[in-house]
Amino acid sequence: MEQILKKRQVLLFFVLLGIAQAGSTIRRYSVEEEAENGFFVANLLKDLGLEVEELAERGPRVISKGKKLNLEFNRQTGDLLLREKLDREELCGPAEPCVVPFQVLLGNPLEIFQAELQIRDINDHSPVFLDKKIILKISEITAPGTTFLIERAQDLDVGSNSLQTYSISPNFHFHLNLQDSPDGTVLPQLVLDKVLDREERSEIRLILTALDGGNPPRSGTVHILIEVLDINDNAPAFSKLRYEVQVPENSPVGSQVATVSAKDLDIGDNGQITYAFSQASEDIRKTFRMNATSGEILLVKTLDFESIQAYTVYVQATDGGGLSGSSVVFVQVKDLNDNPPELTMSTFTNHIPENAPETVIAVFSVADPDSGDNGKMVCSIQEDLPFVLKPSVENLYTLMTNTALDRETRTQYNITITVSDMGTPRLTTQHTIAVYVSDINDNAPAFTQTSYTIFVRENNSPALHIGTISATDSDSGSNAHITYSLLPPQDPQLALNSLISINADNGQLFALRALDYEALQAFEFHVSAVDGGLPALSSQAPVRLVVLDDNDNAPFVLYPLQNASAPCTELLPRAAEPGYLVTKVVAVDRDSGQNAWLSFQLLKATEPGLFSVWAHNGEVRTTRLLGERDVLKHRLLLLVKDNGDPPRSASVTLHVLLVDGFSQPYLPLPEVARDAAQDENALTLYLVIALASVSSLFLLSLLLFVGVRLCRRDRATSLGGCSMPEGHFPGHLVDVGGAGTLSQSYQYEVCLSGDTRTPDFKFLKPIIPNFLLQNSERENDTNPSYRNSFEFS
Ligand SMILES: *[C@@H]1O[C@H](CO)[C@@H](O)[C@H](O)[C@H]1NC(C)=O
Ligand SMILES: *[C@@H]1O[C@H](CO)[C@@H](O)[C@H](O)[C@H]1NC(C)=O
Ligand SMILES: *[C@@H]1O[C@H](CO)[C@@H](O)[C@H](O)[C@H]1NC(C)=O
Repeated sequence: MEQILKKRQVLLFFVLLGIAQAGSTIRRYSVEEEAENGFFVANLLKDLGLEVEELAERGPRVISKGKKLNLEFNRQTGDLLLREKLDREELCGPAEPCVVPFQVLLGNPLEIFQAELQIRDINDHSPVFLDKKIILKISEITAPGTTFLIERAQDLDVGSNSLQTYSISPNFHFHLNLQDSPDGTVLPQLVLDKVLDREERSEIRLILTALDGGNPPRSGTVHILIEVLDINDNAPAFSKLRYEVQVPENSPVGSQVATVSAKDLDIGDNGQITYAFSQASEDIRKTFRMNATSGEILLVKTLDFESIQAYTVYVQATDGGGLSGSSVVFVQVKDLNDNPPELTMSTFTNHIPENAPETVIAVFSVADPDSGDNGKMVCSIQEDLPFVLKPSVENLYTLMTNTALDRETRTQYNITITVSDMGTPRLTTQHTIAVYVSDINDNAPAFTQTSYTIFVRENNSPALHIGTISATDSDSGSNAHITYSLLPPQDPQLALNSLISINADNGQLFALRALDYEALQAFEFHVSAVDGGLPALSSQAPVRLVVLDDNDNAPFVLYPLQNASAPCTELLPRAAEPGYLVTKVVAVDRDSGQNAWLSFQLLKATEPGLFSVWAHNGEVRTTRLLGERDVLKHRLLLLVKDNGDPPRSASVTLHVLLVDGFSQPYLPLPEVARDAAQDENALTLYLVIALASVSSLFLLSLLLFVGVRLCRRDRATSLGGCSMPEGHFPGHLVDVGGAGTLSQSYQYEVCLSGDTRTPDFKFLKPIIPNFLLQNSERENDTNPSYRNSFEFS
């Protein structure tokens, strides 16, 4: 090893010395790059003029600077061969030509040959783009002609093998412009031919191809992505130029009216749309609300067809870049039947006079703000009323009576005016008016009875309320205010105003003074009732006032007269038989009826039992035969009593004088004798019989009494004794004197006085002796009351 090292150091030394000797000529060789291992480069034998043996002896060596070349020397043939592939690009890079110098060193003697090897390029590299993808961002507004530099490709080859040209994939927008750069390379430029539209094509993909000049040429490609940058070149556009919607009125607040939508072809902010009203009136802003993001139009308040029927809402959509588009929304408010008809009274009178012919009560108008059928109205009132509804002008009605009204039948009417529209549902308004029928004095007062009869007991206290007359008036107010009054009596004799008064207000009748039945038994007058109308109406009613009798008169004894100064004495013959009529007490009572029904009663007698009094006719008779022992003078006390309640009475004192002798005509002697003989026995028998049959006798006597009276009347007329006509006696005396027994007996007793045997009968004074009377009494024994005639003749 040490030897080798020494040899090399020596060799180097020689080389360094001998360079100058052999450096004058440089042998040049060339080889293509990438030649295979063992590729022949040169034959040194030939070039150096050496023999094979010489060569072997001298031990040739190839020295290259930096050992770039790896050559192999074949000692047999002297060929210089490549020991490895040569890469020109690695050895020389872009330098051209690529020459690598080397020396061939020979020993014995040392000789150095200069040589150089040129490595020729082959097209072994394709153009290469450094980026895998080129992204270009180009705004869409970029003007045509604008150029965009593109990263160029690299080709390691040189010369014609290097990058020669570029091409671009066909497209509409760009062409390629190649520019020579100062360093001799070609710079590719994209030139915009046509305006880009992002909205049409948001990105463009191109393929750029780089070509070298090799044969065959090699190429490299790169993808170019052109992103078209958006600019706000599109305004929002509504989907419709105009929207038409119908919204029912009264839709609730918040309900959706319409939704508008607009599109913006731009992206991002440029395509972000916000909606708003444009040129919106205050009204619209208060009614609608726009959702800025969704384009919904909502109700803020309810719509009212009656105030606004349609809205024109201008809407606007604005993008983020400030561009805007507009549209219009017609909102038609649909009418609902939400308004009942309205009724407006123009004139109204609520008082109408009765009996008035057709009278206007009210004029009114009706209105319905709804439209169409919702606003058509019909108007009516109740059918059963005497009123009629007359349409005059459109929607103007007149309410009037269709017949005369009668307040007395009905004073008040409630008229209900019903107005309904034709919508669905039908809405109805009712208006009730009260109409009062005012009174007219068309009704006269009407008495409650057609005639009145009032009974008043006589001797009433003055100012006694005796009865009430009443009338009614079916009118009202002062027309029904009745005033009562007494009409002047038809009989001018009747002093009505001093007898009766009437309360003008209530028709109460009062007796002004005590009435006397005996003076006035009945009278008639008329009461008038006048109402307060203008003119006043009146009516009359007859009133009959009947005075009722009161037992206010005691019986009055007519015979015998009870004057103390002139006592009257009856003469009684001693021979009178039992039942002899001594006298007859005559009494009258000015009352009537029961009050004048008199009864007689023997109160006291000087000799009780001798006389009896018939209770009903006042006849005083003996009850037995008179004896010698009987006293001469007898005094009888009789009571005359009426049947009133309480009864009234009068007493009568009778004086009876027994006389022995009596003028013949008046003494039927045989009878007296017979009577005297039978007296004692008959008296006893009489009493027994009388006692046993008291009741039957009483009845019998009543029957007899009636029968006898009838018979007597007949007899009296048949005798022809009464020559005077009945009309001779003033009728009023009969009335005034009082009805009853007295007047009747008076009448026929006067007739009897026409008898020839008692011509002076009428003129007899009461004190004059009774003989004549006795005489006529005997003849007309059956007449118990003839003496009544005295007082009244
Ligand atoms: C607008 O509409 C959108 C979508 O419907 C909703 O989310 C939003 O709350 C609405 N804005 C308003 C203010 O109502
Ligand atoms: C009318 O109406 C009033 C008040 O409602 C009522 O008092 C009156 O009785 C009515 N009249 C008629 C005749 O119906
Ligand atoms: C007796 O009374 C009657 C009737 O009252 C009268 O008319 C007559 O004058 C009176 N005689 C005497 C004497 O008073």
